[in-house]
Amino acid sequence: MSALRYAGMDDTDSEDELPPGWEERSTKDGWVYYANHEEMKTQWEHPKTGKKKRCAGDLPYGWEQETDEKGQTIYVDHINKRTTYFDPRQAFTVEDVVVKPKRYDGNTSALEILQGRDLSDRVVLITGGNSGIGFETARSFALHGARVILACRNLSRASKAANLIQQEWHKARVEAMMCNLASLRSVREFAESFKAKELPLHILVCNAAVCTPPWNLTEDGFESTFQICHLGHFLLVQCLQDVLRRSAPARVVVVSSESHRFTNLLDSCGKVDLALLSPPKEEYWSMLAYNRAKLCNILFSNELHRRLSPHGVTSNAVHPGNMMYTSIHRSWWLMTFLFTLARPFTKSMQQGSATTVYCAVAPELEGSGGMYFNNCFRCQPSIQAEDPSSAANLWELLSVRKVQKQKQT
Ligand SMILES: NC(=O)c1ccc[n+]([C@@H]2O[C@H](COP(=O)([O-])OP(=O)(O)OC[C@H]3O[C@@H](n4cnc5c(N)ncnc54)[C@H](OP(=O)(O)O)[C@@H]3O)[C@@H](O)[C@H]2O)c1
Repeated sequence: MSALRYAGMDDTDSEDELPPGWEERSTKDGWVYYANHEEMKTQWEHPKTGKKKRCAGDLPYGWEQETDEKGQTIYVDHINKRTTYFDPRQAFTVEDVVVKPKRYDGNTSALEILQGRDLSDRVVLITGGNSGIGFETARSFALHGARVILACRNLSRASKAANLIQQEWHKARVEAMMCNLASLRSVREFAESFKAKELPLHILVCNAAVCTPPWNLTEDGFESTFQICHLGHFLLVQCLQDVLRRSAPARVVVVSSESHRFTNLLDSCGKVDLALLSPPKEEYWSMLAYNRAKLCNILFSNELHRRLSPHGVTSNAVHPGNMMYTSIHRSWWLMTFLFTLARPFTKSMQQGSATTVYCAVAPELEGSGGMYFNNCFRCQPSIQAEDPSSAANLWELLSVRKVQKQKQT
């Protein structure tokens, strides 16, 4: 006996052994509880280990649970013709471990979040997936088996990006498609081509953006930062919302920025003003235009969630990180200079894509949306970004028919 104890095989000395006076019992639905006969009390936790347990499976073959005349649960073994108060399932109990959602932070990479996940039944669409954060997001999803579509304004850059991912894993399913957000016609054509593939759409990442380009009007007559960062995505979601709804549960992630805090969109009457969103040349300040578009991103995500969540489509907005060295700075030498100075201290692009990936797959976010995330953590956006009437107002202002009318006048 003592030899067994030294070998660690003496189960009478196990930590599960009950102190004198205690008895292990189970409820009808298999939860284990502990009764102390001296103190006449019961409790869920094991008196020594403090752990909760439940029975792992069904009753063994031939056994039945019954109630005796005193109302106590008994177990009848029909094969061996015997009856006992001891639940035979207690021989096979498992600990009741509450699986807490994993906590991530600013150092987490997208691939860490996806570790061990099989996304082979998921279809993911990413705008601007050919470079920077969008590329890392696409790569992370594709390396976990998802079918990924890169919706990009330059097909040759997009095909190069798709090839790079396929070189990394020959089974990656990545496809480049043409979608220029600076052209409403191109967005509509893209949506039609996508629909023609008859694919579902489980994850849509509105990622593409430009930052601080010189003032320029698109062919639709809108200031280009506003159209590329916001209006193009707005139309894209309008065109694909039936696909998203058919693919429910589906998630939209809108890539915004902390810079949304440094602006507002309201005119003197408190209404969202299109003249502020798409200003004429003399009123254009490139950084302000970017900040406004990023504020639109959060308002859009919130309103989209309000409208589509009853149909199983949720939406969240994210800040990917500060001043990551992507191509976003390329339009203005001053931005390039600042981004170069900040480069040693900022997140990698893998870390920059983590919050987007987290919002796209985290099980604890199933069915949840209308929120804003930074470093894989929910946080408070600016007061205006949270305002539901501004969100509804912006949506109405840009609804496709009104946008069309605007162009004609
Ligand atoms: N980098 C940061 O520090 C940072 C910080 C906060 C937020 N963000 C946000 O993160 C997102 C990704 O930016 P990034 O830093 O990865 O920049 P990026 O490397 O410049 O990527 C932007 C992507 O958008 C695409 N794009 C630009 N104009 C387009 C158009 N008309 N139609 C379709 N696609 C277009 C670009 O395509 P081309 O390659 O063809 O130009 C590129 O693929 C953006 O929403 C940005 O606002 C970035």
